[in-house]
Amino acid sequence: MNNSLLLTEEQLLLKKTLSEFSQKHIAPHAHLLDQNEQFPTENLQGLASLGVMGTGIDPELGGSSGGYQELAVVVEEIAKACAGTSTSFIAHVSLTLATIYNFSRPDQREKFVPGMIEGRDIGAWCLTEPDCGSDASALSCQVEKNNGSYVINGTKTFITNANEASLFTVFARLNNQPGSKGIICLVVDRHSPGITINPLKGKMGIRASSTAEIDFNNTKVPAFNVLGQEEDGFKIAMQILDSSRIIIASQAVGIAQGSLEKALSYSQQRQTFNRPLAQHQAIQFMLADCATKIEAARLLTRRAALLKDQNLPHTIESAMAKLFASETAHFVTDKALQIHGGYGFFKDNPVERYYRDAKITEIYEGSSEIQRLVIARNILKLYQI
Ligand code: CAA
Repeated sequence: MNNSLLLTEEQLLLKKTLSEFSQKHIAPHAHLLDQNEQFPTENLQGLASLGVMGTGIDPELGGSSGGYQELAVVVEEIAKACAGTSTSFIAHVSLTLATIYNFSRPDQREKFVPGMIEGRDIGAWCLTEPDCGSDASALSCQVEKNNGSYVINGTKTFITNANEASLFTVFARLNNQPGSKGIICLVVDRHSPGITINPLKGKMGIRASSTAEIDFNNTKVPAFNVLGQEEDGFKIAMQILDSSRIIIASQAVGIAQGSLEKALSYSQQRQTFNRPLAQHQAIQFMLADCATKIEAARLLTRRAALLKDQNLPHTIESAMAKLFASETAHFVTDKALQIHGGYGFFKDNPVERYYRDAKITEIYEGSSEIQRLVIARNILKLYQI
């Protein structure tokens, strides 16, 4: 597709660099990492050396130019090669690092940000709890203020990167205050006392990313580590989800694009009824629908990223991009597998992996139902009578 009108020269170069790196260094290991549920340490180190973990961050802290448009380009290429690696990257960069960078004081930034950009410190973003997922303001993990420090008790679950992370951003309820205004956001050092990590194995997809439950038992955190004001936690989480959902949308586009390319190639090799699959109209229509939906998803994602980079409201647009792109990934990976027939049903075929990887994009960082709720609430506000 001709993207030259949509991407600047620099963005096209970034896309080429990431595509070459991901196809050469990440894609060849994707199958084994998936099968072994193995954390992509080397992939993340390679991405850190390319400088992309610091996209949009002040160069004085080690960051590089760009913003969400560039991050979307980067993540699409990583996801096309290995969705699991892109999940670990997203949890580290567009959730944890973005939370710390955007809601910290200069002295906090200096302490936490450079190590994260260099990939020395991996981050994990801790919002979800065993009894609280979609209804984020109902969380029950407790924080008590004690002699100027904060003490956390409770459990977080489905936490990406928790097992490997050295820094957590934790959202918890301060002094039992009810509702969304009672939530604080703290940076927690993994080596603080009272932290137990329980890895959760057996995911259907994105198996190269790691997932774990974290128990906090009287975990003491210094006052230095509070992000924003004590009562800001819920709004910090919502604003970060608004921007990170753009990056999940680009992950979904990458998964869809990767599986479509496999289908385009296979459909021209495989013969049925004396001609290649690609010459049957039934297959052509599937390919056309897939390509059209991917382009639409990419445009929605790009629009949301543009708004974010211009500091314009983007809650509706990022929810729309995430909703449409994740449902597109579901649609396209299903059709790509269908086109591969029985061969696509076996684990050594990448379309089988793409099919499993696509599903989570409809669930995490707000399920499709939550995206619809966000869109509906906000458009109703816009057209209030
Ligand atoms: N930006 C700024 N502020 C916002 C906001 C936004 N996008 N959305 C809400 N707020 C503010 C509201 O203005 C309100 O503030 P006031 O009290 O001052 O008026 C406050 O937050 C409460 O808002 P709501 O009453 O609208 O909140 P709610 O309880 O109805 O919840 C929700 C809203 C959108 C459903 C939210 O709970 C939500 O997004 N849920 C999904 C959670 C989610 O996405 N979890 C993902 C986990 S992380 C993950 O998945 C990562 C991974 O594995 C890799």
